[in-house]
Amino acid sequence: MAFAGAAFSKQLLLSLRLSRHIAVFTGAGISAESGITTFRTAQTGLWHHVDPQEVCSMSGLRNDPDVVWGWMALRHAEMLHARPNAAHFAIAKLATQVHTLSLITQNDDDLHERAGSPSVIHLHGEMMRPRCGGCGRNYSGPLHAPEIVADGSPIEPPRCQHCTERIRPGPVLFGEDLSTQVWEAAAQAMRACDTCLIVGTSGIVKPAANLPLLAKHNGATLVQLNLEPNDYSREVDFEVLGAAGVVLPALIEAAFGM
Ligand code: APR
Repeated sequence: MAFAGAAFSKQLLLSLRLSRHIAVFTGAGISAESGITTFRTAQTGLWHHVDPQEVCSMSGLRNDPDVVWGWMALRHAEMLHARPNAAHFAIAKLATQVHTLSLITQNDDDLHERAGSPSVIHLHGEMMRPRCGGCGRNYSGPLHAPEIVADGSPIEPPRCQHCTERIRPGPVLFGEDLSTQVWEAAAQAMRACDTCLIVGTSGIVKPAANLPLLAKHNGATLVQLNLEPNDYSREVDFEVLGAAGVVLPALIEAAFGM
């Protein structure tokens, strides 16, 4: 479904053009069209089918690390097969049109980076950056031998080559605090931006979900692109409902003619 420029209000386009600093805040919805399953989208969302406390929490990692690693390996494989979509590329393009663009994501995939966005603030960690639970040593890439098929069944956690402790997955787990440094960088961008563009999130998970409201309280214009209305719908100045891969490129085209 093509999205005509006429679909966007003149005020919205003007607000984007006049913005010196745009903060883009993304969630799983922006990677849905790349084949990465979201968490809470009706029917398809992961959390409708698996218990996040079992597969993606600190207590899960303590009690059943094999189960957590099995699930993470499955998601990792999904990310390795995924390609950035038009929405990821549109953000990289937008960065060339504004004085400052801050990109803050809840996603643990690397599709923003693969689409050419250099500095991405990952609030919820990165799948591609597991680290040792003992000495903290960073690792990258899949840590299990390719013959271990990632079908979601439990797999033995990899061990650190340095201290032999278990390596933990890169994403931030439920029951775990966000990195203070990462949080401060995101909050600083939200306080300083003229427009905050929210793309593809349910806006449910705190503290991340508070960030666009911090931008609003500091005078920023709030814009939301999402498949369906959510808690931000009553907070935003502009809302466009539709698929990010269709709407975002059309919006950037309509606002900046490229
Ligand atoms: N285009 C735009 N929006 C979409 C698309 C799409 N193609 N597909 C789905 N959406 C919307 C859904 O309507 C939903 O509102 O994206 C949102 C995805 O919401 P969630 O699945 O809850 O993902 P997110 O908000 O990123 O979750 C936040 O929760 O599970 C944790 O750590 C995980 O970072 C994640 C956090």
